[in-house]
Amino acid sequence: MKLLLLCLGLTLVCAHHGENHDVVTSNFNMSKISGEWHTILLASDVKEKIEEQGSMRMFMESIQALDNSSLLIICHKKINGECAELTSICDETEEEGVYSVSYDGYNKLYISEADYNDYLILYLMNSNKQKKTQVTALLARKPDVSTQMKKRFEELCKDHGIPKENILDMANAKTHLVSLWEIRGCWLTVLCSASADPCSHARGSHGAQASSAQ
Ligand SMILES: *[C@@H]1O[C@H](CO)[C@@H](O)[C@H](O)[C@H]1NC(C)=O
Ligand SMILES: *[C@@H]1O[C@H](CO)[C@@H](O)[C@H](O)[C@H]1NC(C)=O
Repeated sequence: MKLLLLCLGLTLVCAHHGENHDVVTSNFNMSKISGEWHTILLASDVKEKIEEQGSMRMFMESIQALDNSSLLIICHKKINGECAELTSICDETEEEGVYSVSYDGYNKLYISEADYNDYLILYLMNSNKQKKTQVTALLARKPDVSTQMKKRFEELCKDHGIPKENILDMANAKTHLVSLWEIRGCWLTVLCSASADPCSHARGSHGAQASSAQ
């Protein structure tokens, strides 16, 4: 059953029960991960890293598996108040589904989970001067995912010791406050708009300045 109620910024969405996903958690086919992705949720145990001025606050544009098994990742990132395009090459490590990239120190990027046509969960361990920071991201092929999927991501963050308060909604980056209440199996979402991140609508804009993470 699906019930949708739209009324002056109030949305009532029922959880989709019994949805079948082809979830992959190992032996990833990287050519199936290639393509466009949208950053939906971003989380970190060091919240400043993903807030307005944070080095890890990025809006994903695309991932491309290269012939030499490296990954080409294109993101948008606010640099000096403007939205810039950031290109990174992540090299494959000997571990399956684990990549390395230098940016703000050294990073190990893990592909955690994927449903190739729907969503992708990434886990990143950043090391900078003995300090370690965890960053997790929920990416999707479409600009949004189900509330159920977001709840699942919250659980995964909890497993890594990242609290719910440290999860940012990037798909609604201009949204200041998001409240969820469960009412008879349905989720009531109240959105209050506030300031927008210049990168939240940068997708596909060729005006964004190119910049390399290398
Ligand atoms: C990976 O995916 C590509 C594109 O869908 C496909 O052609 C290829 O056979 C797959 N490789 C494996 C090992 O399944
Ligand atoms: C793979 O190719 C890319 C683009 O040519 C290059 O930047 C990267 O360093 C290569 N990776 C490895 C491991 O050689």
